[in-house]
Amino acid sequence: MGSLIEQVGGVAALAPVMADFVARLARDPMIGFFFVGVDLQRLVQFELQFAARALGAEVAYEGRPLRQAHQKHRIADGQFNRRRELLRQTLRDHQVPQAACDALIEHSERLRGAVTYFPGQGCNHPTGGLVAVDVDADGRESLLDWP
Ligand code: HEM
Repeated sequence: MGSLIEQVGGVAALAPVMADFVARLARDPMIGFFFVGVDLQRLVQFELQFAARALGAEVAYEGRPLRQAHQKHRIADGQFNRRRELLRQTLRDHQVPQAACDALIEHSERLRGAVTYFPGQGCNHPTGGLVAVDVDADGRESLLDWP
């Protein structure tokens, strides 16, 4: 059967899939704005390295740590979910084997906490600045102001 990256046809076969994925991210009506001004060719390289490694390829990842790369974008849960859906659709359209799709989606899901900005039940408060609800050890709720 081989490793997942072998089932996909190797890193070279995954390259056009990730290029298409990044193109779909960048033109998406919901999350495309995040990618304005981002060097997309560079992003394809890093996304490819990252995904290939997740599938067992022994390639180097040359991008930044995920939290560092995403923090300033203040990504919410729903926006994270939108990326997941675009990834799913892209992998399906390129006939990537199901086991590899599942592995990539699950791998991304485990990284949700590193990529999203709002811990727990985040929201954009309608009356003003960004706030997020926190709950302490005793179950008391509080509103946090974010920088
Ligand atoms: C687990 C899910 C995700 C993974 C594995 C992932 C992977 C990556 C990687 C490898 C990079 C390159 C890092 C670098 O520039 O050094 C990157 C950058 C970026 N990602 Fe993600 N990403 C994820 C989720 C998201 C989501 C949900 C969004 C937006 C909705 C997003 C938007 C961006 C943007 C805008 C950049 C460029 C950062 C910059 O140069 O400012 N990512 N991501």
